[in-house]
Amino acid sequence: MSIPVRLGDCSYEIVLSDSYASLPRRLAALNLPKEGWIVSHRSILARDGHALITPLRRAGWTLRVVTVPESESSKSWTMAERLLTDLSRQAAMRVPVVLAFGGGVIGDLAGFVASVFRRGVPYVQLPTTLLAQVDSALGGKVGVDLPHAKNLAGAFYQPRLVYNNVAILDSLPLRQRRSGLAEIIKYGVIADPTLFAYLETHLPVCLALQRSAVRVLIERSCRIKARVVSHDEREATGRRAQLNFGHTLGHALESATGYTRWTHGEAIAIGMCAAAALSVELRRLSPTVLNRLERLIQRAGLPTHARKVSFQQVWQAVRYDKKFIHGRPRWVLVNRLGHVVVTEDIPQAAVRRVLKRYVTP
Ligand code: GLY
Repeated sequence: MSIPVRLGDCSYEIVLSDSYASLPRRLAALNLPKEGWIVSHRSILARDGHALITPLRRAGWTLRVVTVPESESSKSWTMAERLLTDLSRQAAMRVPVVLAFGGGVIGDLAGFVASVFRRGVPYVQLPTTLLAQVDSALGGKVGVDLPHAKNLAGAFYQPRLVYNNVAILDSLPLRQRRSGLAEIIKYGVIADPTLFAYLETHLPVCLALQRSAVRVLIERSCRIKARVVSHDEREATGRRAQLNFGHTLGHALESATGYTRWTHGEAIAIGMCAAAALSVELRRLSPTVLNRLERLIQRAGLPTHARKVSFQQVWQAVRYDKKFIHGRPRWVLVNRLGHVVVTEDIPQAAVRRVLKRYVTP
């Protein structure tokens, strides 16, 4: 089954499958040259490379592989340059198709390289984590981190295909499953009360990544993201910014602690609780919804509060994120499950009061 991302000439499909068997057919339908340049991590290739490479080679693909170290620090300008140099040496490839085979770091880095090499070559997202399958691989945000800020150099550059092989998630460590679940909970809050209720009633099988449950989660999440991106590809109208529910505090927590203490999903789990509490504080949201959200996050094994961290450092990071458009933090507030608003216009005293409850030394 597949879900369309409708963006005119840049439209593409998000495929959900249980293997890579139909990948060559999907690529053939795009009329791409059969010359692939796979960007991945060594460990992913050792575990799952065979499953990807065998059907492609059988279908006549010539493949080159390049690996990068497994760390956020690989999403750097230096690494992009290294990859671009490698790519420029692949003289035999007329038009290389970049195949991003990994999680968020690989997708963002390889997509960025594809966006600038010869002013843009095709790339395909082959995400291997739950978080990447429901979020980072879709929507064309590609980029690298600069030394002082994450994701500051990048582009909107859409992949030609996103191919989600759900079976690849079977070996995903529990902490990474939880991290992906945080983004799925986010979709439930911002756009899909039925998905939220499904998580509440099926959480154990979702955490176990039971195949039928995980397909429901991925399909519903991808449909939401595809719809949002189709309406606001470049985050120009505020619609795409809704996807940042939980990210204002989440990003600040990650940056204040050097991206080492929490996974992205853990940081945004805390951020979602704080944003929902702020919505209650501003009398937009019923406390019952906040309680349901906190309970779900706890049951998913995710944190609801940030402890043993300097409030001052986090507060600074919330207030001075270099990505803020008007120099003020943007919050995504909840009115009810499935309905959120994006605003910069909030009394700072209320924000501080709420954050003091969620960020404690
Ligand atoms: N992860 C948020 C976005 O793609 O806009």
